[in-house]
Amino acid sequence: MGKRLYHGAAYYPELWSNEVLEEDIKLMKEAGINVARMGEFAWATMEPEEGQIDLGFFVNVINRLYEEGIETVMCTPTPTPPIWFTHGHPERMYVDQDGKVMGHGSRQHPCTNNDYFREKAEIITEHIAKAVGQLPGVIGWQIDNEFKCHVSECMCATCKTLWHEWLQERYGTIEHLNDAWGAQIWSERYHSFEQVPQPGPAPFLHNSSLSTMYRLFSMEKIAEFSDSQAEIIRKYSDAPITHNSNIPFAVDNERLFKNLDFASFDTYASQENRASYLMNCDLWRNFKKGKDFWIMETSTSYAASLESYASPHANGYLRAEAVAAYALGAEAFCYWLWRQQRSGCEQPHGSVISSWGKPTVGFQSVLEVENMRKAIEPMIIETRPSEPEVALVYSDRAKVFFQTEPHQNLDYRGLITDFYDRIVSLGIHRDVIPEGDSLEGYKLLITPFVPYISSDFLRKAQSFVEDGGTWIVGPLTGGRTEEHTVHTDAALGQIEKIAGAQALFTYPIDGTGAVGEAFGVSAPLGLWSTIFEYDEKATVGTIKGGNSDGKSFITEHSVGKGKIVMLGSMPVGEEGDNLLKKIIETYAEDVNVSTKTDVTSGTIVAPRRNDNYTAWVIVNMDGKGGSVTLPKDGVDVLKDEAVGKGPLSIGQYEYRVIQFNK
Ligand code: GAL
Repeated sequence: MGKRLYHGAAYYPELWSNEVLEEDIKLMKEAGINVARMGEFAWATMEPEEGQIDLGFFVNVINRLYEEGIETVMCTPTPTPPIWFTHGHPERMYVDQDGKVMGHGSRQHPCTNNDYFREKAEIITEHIAKAVGQLPGVIGWQIDNEFKCHVSECMCATCKTLWHEWLQERYGTIEHLNDAWGAQIWSERYHSFEQVPQPGPAPFLHNSSLSTMYRLFSMEKIAEFSDSQAEIIRKYSDAPITHNSNIPFAVDNERLFKNLDFASFDTYASQENRASYLMNCDLWRNFKKGKDFWIMETSTSYAASLESYASPHANGYLRAEAVAAYALGAEAFCYWLWRQQRSGCEQPHGSVISSWGKPTVGFQSVLEVENMRKAIEPMIIETRPSEPEVALVYSDRAKVFFQTEPHQNLDYRGLITDFYDRIVSLGIHRDVIPEGDSLEGYKLLITPFVPYISSDFLRKAQSFVEDGGTWIVGPLTGGRTEEHTVHTDAALGQIEKIAGAQALFTYPIDGTGAVGEAFGVSAPLGLWSTIFEYDEKATVGTIKGGNSDGKSFITEHSVGKGKIVMLGSMPVGEEGDNLLKKIIETYAEDVNVSTKTDVTSGTIVAPRRNDNYTAWVIVNMDGKGGSVTLPKDGVDVLKDEAVGKGPLSIGQYEYRVIQFNK
């Protein structure tokens, strides 16, 4: 890896004849597919009877593809253990929150913590790694497939035992747990760890600490499973290992990727939801900083299953997605799937080639992606994405807090994506970073929707501010402790002390008539809000009307050479959108963010650089065209001609690469 841009597809040769394989190879070459991902559901092909393992089929396919210049990402087949594993063994299966035990079929039906599952998963993984790990065609590995995309926390007896061990490890003594969870409430108090239930069926809600901790426990266990798979593969292969994840899954992506070699994600975001697509690129780039990420799956045109289908992409959109991904740091852009399924539950899903071997409606777009890939490859290979100066924090732990406490159906993903979209629409080049990332190099740090701010993060953010950075805290940030309880020293705990802020009270401000005013813009306020006393020195945003008339929802505090900005409430509606943008823009200007353009909304600029030049990859993503002002004379890399400084217009779904020499 590292020397070319990949254009790939998920491939299931175990479902087709040898003649079809040969036809596929021919068609893949025509379509410009240079990498195939395979094996993730093929356990029954590899081990049809328990203990009878034969990887010969895959060895042949991988070698055959390689002869034709197509490389392979090999997967472990653990999402679909065969019938010999499941039949007659309900104790090996996943149990949902209502206590329903999964049977054979579909996928993700086993409990990944079950001992026998782990044993069998180890054996098959070791055989695969041994058989194909040294083949020249294998350039990478994917563990399993989309962990926890259909299931979340398992409630089986194995998980119960592990849960108790996990609690023991975390709390040491049961008194400590009782204390941390405030378990005296509703007579929950436990005498031993064995008594602590799993958050199964209950007449009303469980204790927040119980619910949140069970989710964190489950995330840790699935990451440990991933670690153990990676460890086995590494014994036999040097090829880098990944997992294809995404935000909605019940995993902690930061933890998951810690022990993997590169990050990848799957995306089926619609064109309207392109903010989610872009956010994934800006986030996945940072799970393995400095390394390219992969888009492991996306549809050529539309996703579908027996029960539903999405709308086909407009012509031109697929290429826009692909160029944006490569420019923002992707090494690969891959489809699900190559050849349409002839059976199973995803027969209607978009693909590159139909079951009958003909180009699908998405095929032309795939060719456009391939032409673009060839055109930009030299520039992408010799540059890296420019370092952003603005960082937005993404946290799967925060996601868990919102699952336990969704207020009124708040969805973390939606909240953070909308917030992110404002930064994009301001033309600001940005990183989306996990909590553990370094803050070095940033000027503006934004942490909305993080109910629990860890002491590690707090320390890091404090020194970032002391060194001159600006940190925007909120909305909905800091109001809960590590144990998902309420602080008893101050509404937002330690943050208030560090900032020198003082919250008066918190309450749901939606629909109360409260209007926030800041920087000459006003908007209704919403969500659970933290209100501050009016203070001539600190207040930046004041509240008019409602229950907190005259008080503050934004305060600003100097700390060292920098600033902490407490954003206590969420401006909502169209005016809210303007106000939020105004807030972000004001603080970005205040710290002199330089990686910012005036690109029109719907078009993006992804800057890349090396020691000699900067290149702007400009892509129109809304199909309406747009424009941006070039700060100086440059060269249009694709047309090989000079372009003058000043406005540059971009056609519908058009992409341009403009190089500025130093
Ligand atoms: C993904 C999954 C693929 C396929 C695809 C369809 O979630 O990894 O196997 O099901 O969705 O969109």
